Amino acid sequence: TIYPEIRIYEVGPRDGLQNESKFVPTDVKIELINKLAGSGITNIESASFVSPKWVKQMSDGPEIMKNLHRKPGVNYPVLVPNLKGYNIAKECSVEEVAIFPAGSESFSQKNLNCSIEEGLKRFKEVADQAVKDRLRVRGYISCVVGCPYDGPISPKSIAKITEELLAMGCYEVSLGDTIGVGTAGSVRKLLREVLTVAPPRKLALHFHDTYGQALSNLLAGLEFGVSTVDSSISGLGGCPLCTGSKAIGDRFKSNNKILSQMALCDI
Ligand code: HMG
Ligand code: MG
Repeated sequence: TIYPEIRIYEVGPRDGLQNESKFVPTDVKIELINKLAGSGITNIESASFVSPKWVKQMSDGPEIMKNLHRKPGVNYPVLVPNLKGYNIAKECSVEEVAIFPAGSESFSQKNLNCSIEEGLKRFKEVADQAVKDRLRVRGYISCVVGCPYDGPISPKSIAKITEELLAMGCYEVSLGDTIGVGTAGSVRKLLREVLTVAPPRKLALHFHDTYGQALSNLLAGLEFGVSTVDSSISGLGGCPLCTGSKAIGDRFKSNNKILSQMALCDI
């Protein structure tokens, strides 16, 4: 098999650090981002412009984006959940924003405090504005394989959200196995469906390694020609609003039986 060249999209300063219980000082975050850029990485998701009431660790997005040394040729995207976050991010001269609907109803409620449909409506407002402002927009879908509350997620529903994100103007959709319950088998089933609505070059793989499956899941993705891979320095990361993602928050109890059953089957 000849594998395509890999494009790395590093999310450590955002997805990695958002889950740290102790506040990481802003200058340390900036130093990490600068060092990642220095190492040759050209896509570095650097901050979130989410509600500080929900994720305090990410409350210093504006300071980070204003004080960062922006290396020419390096892309420094940020995560935004709504127009409010978008407007603050835009004031910080960001060039790319990422929007992130959920693939499951319960996770949408826990992570965004709204339904999938309402989330897509809000993200469309963000995407429309970004397109008008000529900013790039990347889409994420979380819980693409399984949800800590709702269990397995149907590949068809993820394909539908992928299609909607691309129609909004996202240049790429990153498929997020937020809690790491994917296996090579379930990833193949997912991609067979998603590839009916999007070519491989419009997709990225975002695999959390909760059950040690991320590498085999990536290999399954590569075999379908999907070659953009989200990475996180030192394997840091997780979503603070769910369990099963090496989460610290544990604000909402998930069904751990669902998680372990999913992780053990369908290889
Ligand atoms: P809400 O509480 O329903 O929102 O949260 P609200 O509009 O009622 O606002 C509540 C307060 O937050 C208000 O302040 C707003 O002004 C403020 P108050 O009036 O009470 O003083 N606020 C904001 N402040 C700054 N920036 C903003 C913003 N928005 C509201 N953008 C909301 C709804 C969507 C805001 C909230 O649920 C939220 O911020 N969620 C984000 C959660 C998050 O960051 N999760 C982790 C990232 S997703 C992830 O990790 C998955 C991924 O990696 C892929 C994968 O792994 O699969 C991407
Ligand atoms: Mg993630």
